[in-house]
Amino acid sequence: MKVAIFSTQSYDRQFFDQVNAAYGHNLLYLEPALTAKTAILAAGCTAVCVFVNDVVDKATLHVLHESGVTTLVLRCAGFNQVDLETAKSLHINVFRVPSYSPEAVAEHAVAMIMTLNRKTHKAYNRIREGNFSLERLIGFNLHGKKVGLIGLGQIGLAFAKIMQGFGTEVYAYDPVVKDVPSYIRMTDYDTLISSAAIISIHCPLNEQTRHMVNKESFVKMKDGVMLINTSRGAILDSNAAIEALKQGKLGYLGIDVYEQEDKLFFRDLSESLIADEQILRLMSFPNVLITAHQGFFTTEALTEIAETTLQNLTDAESLRSNLNQL
Ligand code: NAI
Repeated sequence: MKVAIFSTQSYDRQFFDQVNAAYGHNLLYLEPALTAKTAILAAGCTAVCVFVNDVVDKATLHVLHESGVTTLVLRCAGFNQVDLETAKSLHINVFRVPSYSPEAVAEHAVAMIMTLNRKTHKAYNRIREGNFSLERLIGFNLHGKKVGLIGLGQIGLAFAKIMQGFGTEVYAYDPVVKDVPSYIRMTDYDTLISSAAIISIHCPLNEQTRHMVNKESFVKMKDGVMLINTSRGAILDSNAAIEALKQGKLGYLGIDVYEQEDKLFFRDLSESLIADEQILRLMSFPNVLITAHQGFFTTEALTEIAETTLQNLTDAESLRSNLNQL
């Protein structure tokens, strides 16, 4: 199948080329993100491959449809960026990678907790400058602390397992999941956010979860709480987080995702003027750690993403040829 791969980075090319040796698809690598304006670049392709910040809205889908695209493969788990109704109406089959390495994201969330808590990033810089002082590097024991998870799917569960290993008390809120390991205590949203010392977000972004963690949530949280978001930026109201940080309510914030990340992440902007006032404010706090959507970024996850995506293209091809034979 000929597929236009939007938002290509060097590592996409590396892993897709490696895995594609066994699949033989025709891969067209494109650096721009997919939007209604760039969709025309897929002309001549029957499939399009997108990542988290590509815009697959109604307008984009219509351009793709007119250029003959019949298949959309997402090389990610979340699908909030896709207008599924329009895709269905245009008979564009949509595939995603529902599971690749939940441990990759869970371990990154733990890395954020450990960095914010034990300040290893600051210690590293100090030592390189010959500063061996321990002043202001004090952390806290994770052992015995209450950790609250919002969302207990694959990543939430992988994260819970690790947190149990640290000897924390693990609480979770998930409106769907019922059967859980005995060490996880299920609770409601308000109880979870008002009792946890560390809150970690692992639910998808949808209309119910957009700004789920907001001004009212911060009022209910414990003073000095640590909040980690490796899920999707818009689940957290960034303005409310900034206010909570200014008031000292939010003691630590670790975000691997950000509401306006599509204009920032996956790019080197070190020589550019950053116009986004919110991210600049967030970057200014000493107790905020930002990573640019790298939770998934492990060799195992990238290999699995490439394998599932290329298999999805093969499946789409057989689906189309079966339909044509009917
Ligand atoms: P999953 O589908 O296995 O689990 C999501 C869980 O959230 C489900 O159990 C669901 O019932 C629950 N949920 C749904 N609505 C909820 C609500 N209102 N409140 C609380 N829980 C709710 O998904 P998985 O694989 O665990 O991924 C979770 C999210 O992580 C994805 O949707 C994606 O946005 C994000 N993600 C981030 C990555 C990164 O690199 N930072 C990489 C992969 C995923």
